[in-house]
Amino acid sequence: MIALPKRVQLKEVGPRDGLQNEKSFIETTDKIAFIDRLSETGLDYLEVTSFVHPKWIPQLADATEVLKAIKRKKGITYAALVPNSKGLERALEAGVDEVSIFMSASEGHNKANINKTIDETFPILKEVVDGAIFSGKTVRGYISTVIACPYDGYVSPSQVVKVAERLFEMGITEISLGDTIGVGVPTQVDALLNEMLQYFNVNQLAMHFHDTRGTALANVMTSLSHGIHKFDSSIGGLGGCPYAKGASGNVATEDLLYLLHGMGIETGVSLDKIEQSALFIEQKIGKRLNSKLVAVARGEEL
Ligand code: HMG
Ligand code: MG
Repeated sequence: MIALPKRVQLKEVGPRDGLQNEKSFIETTDKIAFIDRLSETGLDYLEVTSFVHPKWIPQLADATEVLKAIKRKKGITYAALVPNSKGLERALEAGVDEVSIFMSASEGHNKANINKTIDETFPILKEVVDGAIFSGKTVRGYISTVIACPYDGYVSPSQVVKVAERLFEMGITEISLGDTIGVGVPTQVDALLNEMLQYFNVNQLAMHFHDTRGTALANVMTSLSHGIHKFDSSIGGLGGCPYAKGASGNVATEDLLYLLHGMGIETGVSLDKIEQSALFIEQKIGKRLNSKLVAVARGEEL
């Protein structure tokens, strides 16, 4: 058996990645109650909303209200997605702890998602990083489409390295590698991490798997075998990027917890409380969540 990390940190992206893909508006008070519940689960990192243009993601137009109203628990980082200086201004005003910038490794998705070419994006993000650091905030970066792009097809690991180098030069602390449309399989994740880990160390990287084709947990196993110990996940398996056709839910937090705990890996997170939070948001969204462990929590025959 491969050597696995003893402890893994989960970065919960459900309130942002999870909800951004939901078409019908979820009441602001429900979002706040949802995040407050998540703060009681043992998670120490919550990405709670997004300060993108409200016309691009109407579901998260209430970002300021949400971030201002949640009950902050000591020891938890409350992060939010920020695309540009306008977004940073709003996020700082609302009291964000950590800023998450984002771009894609491929031109097609970058343009569709943030309306800029890759080269046009770097100076915009540099301004965000400088402003955030000046305000005493840390910055995390996402690179999307690290395996394949819904517009341009397969993406080479060397292209991901190139984008990562530019982002780290700006002074960010960590990069989360996103398989945005959930096409990756373990051999591809292996090739990507073999390349990335020649340039960056394991503490600088997190993995962000969407589970469109059911390969997310297999990809987590491959990442663990490379020593990766930070994963993004979304409660109930919610999630997806509205500007990436075919993107669906993130790896479900509860399914990931089951896997990790079963292998003796600590997370500090209560699976039971996560399942209860998943049932809470399921009721507010009014749609059945797909994760395996939510089905178990509902007491369904499997
Ligand atoms: P744009 O239209 O090119 O923006 O959109 P612009 O800079 O030309 O500005 C146009 C107007 O928008 C201006 O107003 C700005 O002030 C305003 P005007 O002067 O015309 O009155 N504006 C803003 N207002 C509020 N907040 C802002 C903001 N920015 C500009 N932040 C932009 C460019 C990036 C804003 C837009 O394309 C956008 O918001 N895109 C976000 C799309 C998105 O959120 N996608 C999902 C998140 S990414 C994801 O899910 C992937 C991830 O999970 C990882 C993975 O899975 O791979 C992270
Ligand atoms: Mg995502």
